[in-house]
Amino acid sequence: MAQRNDGRPVPAAQEGRPTTVPAVQARKGGTPLVMVTAYDAPTARIADEAGVDIVLVGDSVAMVVLGYDDTLQVTVADMAHHVAAVARARPQALVVADLPWLSYHLSAEDAVRNAATLVRAGAAAVKLEGGRVRVPVIRALVDAQIPVMGHLGLTPQSVHVQGGYRVQGQQADAAAALVDEATAIADAGCFAVVLECVPRDVARLVTAAVPVPTIGIGAGPDCDGQVLVIHDLLGLEDRIAPKFVRRYGTLKADGVAAVAAYADDVRAGRFPSDAESYHLSEEVAAALGVGPRSSATRTA
Ligand code: KIV
Repeated sequence: MAQRNDGRPVPAAQEGRPTTVPAVQARKGGTPLVMVTAYDAPTARIADEAGVDIVLVGDSVAMVVLGYDDTLQVTVADMAHHVAAVARARPQALVVADLPWLSYHLSAEDAVRNAATLVRAGAAAVKLEGGRVRVPVIRALVDAQIPVMGHLGLTPQSVHVQGGYRVQGQQADAAAALVDEATAIADAGCFAVVLECVPRDVARLVTAAVPVPTIGIGAGPDCDGQVLVIHDLLGLEDRIAPKFVRRYGTLKADGVAAVAAYADDVRAGRFPSDAESYHLSEEVAAALGVGPRSSATRTA
Protein backbone atom coordinates (compact mmCIF):
# COMPACT_ATOMS: atom_id res chain seq x y z
CA MET A 1 0.00 0.00 0.00
CA ALA A 2 1.35 3.46 -0.94
CA GLN A 3 2.21 5.95 1.79
CA ARG A 4 1.60 9.69 1.96
CA ASN A 5 4.38 12.17 2.83
CA ASP A 6 3.23 12.07 6.46
CA GLY A 7 3.72 8.29 6.56
CA ARG A 8 -0.01 7.52 6.66
CA PRO A 9 -1.33 5.00 4.09
CA VAL A 10 -3.03 6.46 1.02
CA PRO A 11 -6.79 5.87 1.37
CA ALA A 12 -8.03 2.96 -0.78
CA ALA A 13 -10.49 5.20 -2.65
CA GLN A 14 -7.66 7.43 -3.86
CA GLU A 15 -5.90 4.39 -5.28
CA GLY A 16 -9.05 3.07 -6.96
CA ARG A 17 -9.42 0.19 -4.48
CA PRO A 18 -12.74 -0.53 -2.73
CA THR A 19 -13.19 1.00 0.72
CA THR A 20 -14.34 -1.52 3.30
CA VAL A 21 -15.90 -1.21 6.73
CA PRO A 22 -12.65 -2.38 8.47
CA ALA A 23 -10.72 0.19 6.39
CA VAL A 24 -13.06 2.91 7.67
CA GLN A 25 -12.64 1.71 11.26
CA ALA A 26 -8.85 1.76 10.83
CA ARG A 27 -8.97 5.47 9.97
CA LYS A 28 -9.73 6.43 13.60
CA GLY A 29 -7.30 9.25 14.36
CA GLY A 30 -5.72 8.94 10.90
CA THR A 31 -6.24 10.68 7.58
CA PRO A 32 -9.70 12.25 7.87
CA LEU A 33 -12.49 10.26 6.24
CA VAL A 34 -14.32 11.91 3.35
CA MET A 35 -18.03 11.13 3.05
CA VAL A 36 -20.52 12.76 0.70
CA THR A 37 -24.11 11.97 -0.14
CA ALA A 38 -25.13 10.56 -3.53
CA TYR A 39 -28.60 9.60 -4.67
CA ASP A 40 -28.23 8.30 -8.22
CA ALA A 41 -25.62 7.02 -10.67
CA PRO A 42 -24.33 10.45 -11.82
CA THR A 43 -23.80 11.81 -8.29
CA ALA A 44 -22.20 8.49 -7.27
CA ARG A 45 -19.80 8.74 -10.24
CA ILE A 46 -18.89 12.34 -9.37
CA ALA A 47 -18.19 11.37 -5.76
CA ASP A 48 -16.32 8.22 -6.67
CA GLU A 49 -14.15 9.76 -9.38
CA ALA A 50 -13.22 12.44 -6.84
CA GLY A 51 -11.93 9.64 -4.61
CA VAL A 52 -14.23 9.96 -1.58
CA ASP A 53 -14.10 7.17 1.00
CA ILE A 54 -17.81 6.79 1.70
CA VAL A 55 -20.92 7.53 -0.35
CA LEU A 56 -23.99 8.00 1.82
CA VAL A 57 -27.37 7.44 0.23
CA GLY A 58 -28.95 9.75 2.75
CA ASP A 59 -32.61 10.12 3.54
CA SER A 60 -31.88 13.77 2.73
CA VAL A 61 -32.90 12.51 -0.74
CA ALA A 62 -36.40 13.41 0.49
CA MET A 63 -35.53 17.10 0.63
CA VAL A 64 -32.77 17.67 -1.92
CA VAL A 65 -34.06 15.39 -4.69
CA LEU A 66 -37.72 14.64 -4.08
CA GLY A 67 -38.80 18.11 -2.90
CA TYR A 68 -40.29 17.14 0.47
CA ASP A 69 -40.01 19.45 3.50
CA ASP A 70 -38.42 16.84 5.76
CA THR A 71 -36.86 13.38 5.71
CA LEU A 72 -39.88 11.69 7.28
CA GLN A 73 -41.51 11.20 3.90
CA VAL A 74 -39.22 8.56 2.39
CA THR A 75 -39.83 4.83 2.68
CA VAL A 76 -37.60 1.75 2.51
CA ALA A 77 -38.76 1.28 -1.10
CA ASP A 78 -37.72 4.87 -1.95
CA MET A 79 -34.32 4.34 -0.33
CA ALA A 80 -33.79 1.00 -2.08
CA HIS A 81 -34.58 2.65 -5.43
CA HIS A 82 -31.85 5.27 -4.86
CA VAL A 83 -29.36 2.81 -3.33
CA ALA A 84 -29.69 0.61 -6.41
CA ALA A 85 -29.04 3.58 -8.70
CA VAL A 86 -25.90 4.47 -6.72
CA ALA A 87 -24.73 0.85 -6.68
CA ARG A 88 -25.12 0.58 -10.47
CA ALA A 89 -22.33 3.19 -10.74
CA ARG A 90 -20.12 0.52 -9.08
CA PRO A 91 -18.35 2.98 -6.76
CA GLN A 92 -15.10 2.04 -5.02
CA ALA A 93 -16.36 4.13 -2.09
CA LEU A 94 -18.20 2.32 0.69
CA VAL A 95 -21.95 2.63 0.05
CA VAL A 96 -23.87 3.39 3.24
CA ALA A 97 -27.67 3.70 3.13
CA ASP A 98 -29.88 5.56 5.57
CA LEU A 99 -32.57 3.51 7.22
CA PRO A 100 -35.57 5.83 6.87
CA TRP A 101 -37.87 6.90 9.66
CA LEU A 102 -40.03 4.10 11.10
CA SER A 103 -38.01 1.37 9.39
CA TYR A 104 -36.13 0.51 12.61
CA HIS A 105 -38.38 1.81 15.38
CA LEU A 106 -41.00 -0.95 15.60
CA SER A 107 -38.88 -4.02 16.30
CA ALA A 108 -35.38 -5.37 15.81
CA GLU A 109 -36.76 -7.99 13.43
CA ASP A 110 -38.39 -5.31 11.29
CA ALA A 111 -35.14 -3.32 11.30
CA VAL A 112 -33.09 -6.30 10.13
CA ARG A 113 -35.58 -7.04 7.35
CA ASN A 114 -35.57 -3.41 6.18
CA ALA A 115 -31.79 -3.15 6.38
CA ALA A 116 -31.50 -6.36 4.36
CA THR A 117 -33.61 -4.75 1.62
CA LEU A 118 -31.07 -1.92 1.42
CA VAL A 119 -28.12 -4.34 1.46
CA ARG A 120 -29.71 -6.35 -1.35
CA ALA A 121 -30.15 -3.08 -3.26
CA GLY A 122 -26.39 -2.52 -3.02
CA ALA A 123 -25.51 -0.95 0.35
CA ALA A 124 -22.58 -2.33 2.34
CA ALA A 125 -23.81 -0.75 5.58
CA VAL A 126 -26.76 1.16 6.99
CA LYS A 127 -27.02 4.32 9.06
CA LEU A 128 -29.59 4.97 11.75
CA GLU A 129 -30.31 7.87 14.08
CA GLY A 130 -30.39 7.82 17.87
CA GLY A 131 -28.43 6.82 20.95
CA ARG A 132 -28.83 4.35 23.80
CA VAL A 133 -32.45 3.59 22.84
CA ARG A 134 -31.18 2.08 19.57
CA VAL A 135 -28.76 -0.37 21.22
CA PRO A 136 -30.98 -3.49 20.82
CA VAL A 137 -31.56 -2.72 17.13
CA ILE A 138 -27.86 -2.05 16.50
CA ARG A 139 -27.01 -5.37 18.16
CA ALA A 140 -29.59 -7.20 16.02
CA LEU A 141 -28.25 -5.65 12.82
CA VAL A 142 -24.65 -6.46 13.73
CA ASP A 143 -25.74 -10.03 14.59
CA ALA A 144 -27.22 -10.22 11.09
CA GLN A 145 -23.80 -9.20 9.68
CA ILE A 146 -25.03 -5.74 8.67
CA PRO A 147 -22.54 -2.99 9.57
CA VAL A 148 -24.16 0.02 11.26
CA MET A 149 -23.18 3.67 11.26
CA GLY A 150 -24.73 5.76 14.06
CA HIS A 151 -25.99 9.34 13.84
CA LEU A 152 -26.21 11.66 16.86
CA GLY A 153 -26.71 15.36 17.59
CA LEU A 154 -29.19 16.94 15.23
CA THR A 155 -31.11 13.93 13.99
CA PRO A 156 -33.43 15.09 11.19
CA GLN A 157 -35.88 12.21 11.75
CA SER A 158 -36.52 13.77 15.21
CA VAL A 159 -37.35 17.19 13.75
CA HIS A 160 -40.63 17.44 15.65
CA VAL A 161 -39.14 16.29 18.97
CA GLN A 162 -36.08 18.53 18.62
CA GLY A 163 -38.33 21.47 17.64
CA GLY A 164 -36.69 22.13 14.28
CA TYR A 165 -33.18 21.83 12.91
CA ARG A 166 -31.16 23.20 15.83
CA VAL A 167 -27.63 22.86 17.15
CA GLN A 168 -27.60 20.12 19.82
CA GLY A 169 -25.47 19.53 22.93
CA GLN A 170 -25.02 23.18 23.85
CA GLN A 171 -25.54 22.76 27.60
CA ALA A 172 -23.20 20.79 29.87
CA ASP A 173 -25.77 18.06 30.60
CA ALA A 174 -26.71 17.68 26.92
CA ALA A 175 -23.02 17.52 25.96
CA ALA A 176 -22.35 14.84 28.58
CA ALA A 177 -25.42 12.94 27.35
CA LEU A 178 -24.04 12.99 23.80
CA VAL A 179 -20.76 11.46 24.98
CA ASP A 180 -22.76 8.80 26.83
CA GLU A 181 -25.00 8.06 23.81
CA ALA A 182 -22.02 7.82 21.48
CA THR A 183 -20.23 5.44 23.83
CA ALA A 184 -23.36 3.27 24.09
CA ILE A 185 -23.85 2.90 20.33
CA ALA A 186 -20.13 2.36 19.70
CA ASP A 187 -20.15 -0.36 22.39
CA ALA A 188 -23.23 -1.89 20.72
CA GLY A 189 -21.25 -2.28 17.49
CA CYS A 190 -21.50 0.88 15.36
CA PHE A 191 -18.40 1.10 13.17
CA ALA A 192 -18.60 4.90 12.88
CA VAL A 193 -20.78 7.71 14.21
CA VAL A 194 -22.04 10.80 12.39
CA LEU A 195 -22.19 13.91 14.59
CA GLU A 196 -24.50 16.56 13.18
CA CYS A 197 -24.69 20.17 14.33
CA VAL A 198 -22.96 20.03 17.70
CA PRO A 199 -20.42 22.50 19.10
CA ARG A 200 -16.85 21.80 18.05
CA ASP A 201 -15.73 21.12 21.64
CA VAL A 202 -18.50 18.57 22.14
CA ALA A 203 -17.53 16.78 18.91
CA ARG A 204 -13.93 16.72 20.17
CA LEU A 205 -15.05 15.18 23.49
CA VAL A 206 -17.11 12.52 21.72
CA THR A 207 -14.30 11.79 19.28
CA ALA A 208 -11.89 11.26 22.16
CA ALA A 209 -14.40 9.07 24.03
CA VAL A 210 -15.28 6.53 21.32
CA PRO A 211 -12.99 3.96 19.69
CA VAL A 212 -14.66 4.33 16.28
CA PRO A 213 -14.38 7.19 13.78
CA THR A 214 -16.67 10.18 14.16
CA ILE A 215 -17.81 11.88 10.96
CA GLY A 216 -18.94 15.46 11.42
CA ILE A 217 -21.40 17.70 9.65
CA GLY A 218 -21.56 21.05 11.37
CA ALA A 219 -19.44 19.56 14.15
CA GLY A 220 -16.11 21.27 13.53
CA PRO A 221 -12.72 20.00 12.37
CA ASP A 222 -11.83 17.69 15.27
CA CYS A 223 -13.86 14.70 14.08
CA ASP A 224 -12.24 11.72 12.32
CA GLY A 225 -13.98 12.68 9.07
CA GLN A 226 -16.45 15.04 7.42
CA VAL A 227 -19.66 14.64 5.44
CA LEU A 228 -21.57 17.10 3.27
CA VAL A 229 -24.72 16.80 1.19
CA ILE A 230 -23.52 16.77 -2.42
CA HIS A 231 -26.13 19.29 -3.57
CA ASP A 232 -24.81 21.78 -0.98
CA LEU A 233 -21.16 21.11 -1.84
CA LEU A 234 -21.73 21.48 -5.60
CA GLY A 235 -24.00 24.49 -5.25
CA LEU A 236 -26.81 22.56 -6.94
CA GLU A 237 -29.15 24.46 -4.66
CA ASP A 238 -28.74 28.17 -4.02
CA ARG A 239 -31.08 28.41 -1.07
CA ILE A 240 -29.61 29.83 2.14
CA ALA A 241 -27.38 27.12 3.59
CA PRO A 242 -26.35 26.51 7.21
CA LYS A 243 -22.99 28.02 8.25
CA PHE A 244 -21.21 24.66 8.11
CA VAL A 245 -21.80 24.30 4.35
CA ARG A 246 -18.90 25.28 2.10
CA ARG A 247 -19.87 25.52 -1.55
CA TYR A 248 -17.17 24.18 -3.87
CA GLY A 249 -19.21 24.65 -7.04
CA THR A 250 -21.95 26.79 -8.58
CA LEU A 251 -23.83 24.10 -10.47
CA LYS A 252 -27.27 25.69 -10.00
CA ALA A 253 -26.10 29.03 -11.46
CA ASP A 254 -24.08 27.23 -14.16
CA GLY A 255 -27.12 25.10 -15.00
CA VAL A 256 -29.50 28.06 -15.25
CA ALA A 257 -27.02 29.91 -17.49
CA ALA A 258 -26.55 26.83 -19.70
CA VAL A 259 -30.29 26.17 -20.11
CA ALA A 260 -30.92 29.89 -20.80
CA ALA A 261 -28.21 29.83 -23.51
CA TYR A 262 -29.82 26.73 -25.05
CA ALA A 263 -33.25 28.44 -25.00
CA ASP A 264 -31.78 31.54 -26.70
CA ASP A 265 -30.12 29.38 -29.37
CA VAL A 266 -33.32 27.41 -30.09
CA ARG A 267 -35.43 30.56 -30.29
CA ALA A 268 -32.89 32.28 -32.56
CA GLY A 269 -32.57 29.22 -34.84
CA ARG A 270 -28.91 28.67 -33.86
CA PHE A 271 -29.51 25.19 -32.46
CA PRO A 272 -29.18 22.61 -33.85
CA SER A 273 -26.63 23.35 -36.56
CA ASP A 274 -26.17 21.29 -39.70
CA ALA A 275 -23.14 19.62 -38.06
CA GLU A 276 -25.39 18.54 -35.19
CA SER A 277 -27.83 16.92 -37.66
CA TYR A 278 -27.98 13.45 -39.26
CA HIS A 279 -27.85 13.29 -43.05
CA LEU A 280 -29.10 11.02 -45.82
CA SER A 281 -26.62 9.42 -48.17
CA GLU A 282 -26.35 11.19 -51.52
CA GLU A 283 -28.18 8.32 -53.29
CA VAL A 284 -31.15 8.36 -50.93
CA ALA A 285 -31.26 12.15 -50.97
CA ALA A 286 -31.28 12.08 -54.79
CA ALA A 287 -34.02 9.41 -54.86
CA LEU A 288 -36.11 11.59 -52.58
CA GLY A 289 -35.31 14.67 -54.57
CA VAL A 290 -33.78 16.51 -51.63
CA GLY A 291 -30.31 17.99 -51.27
CA PRO A 292 -27.98 15.90 -49.07
CA ARG A 293 -27.35 18.94 -46.83
CA SER A 294 -30.94 20.10 -46.64
CA SER A 295 -32.39 20.47 -43.15
CA ALA A 296 -35.46 18.67 -44.56
CA THR A 297 -33.34 15.49 -44.76
CA ARG A 298 -32.82 15.31 -40.99
CA THR A 299 -33.56 11.85 -39.55
CA ALA A 300 -34.00 10.77 -35.98
O1 KIV B 1 -29.31 12.11 5.04
C1 KIV B 1 -28.23 12.71 5.08
O2 KIV B 1 -27.82 13.40 4.13
C2 KIV B 1 -27.45 12.61 6.30
C3 KIV B 1 -26.22 13.47 6.39
C4 KIV B 1 -26.63 14.85 6.72
C5 KIV B 1 -25.26 12.93 7.39
O3 KIV B 1 -27.79 11.89 7.18
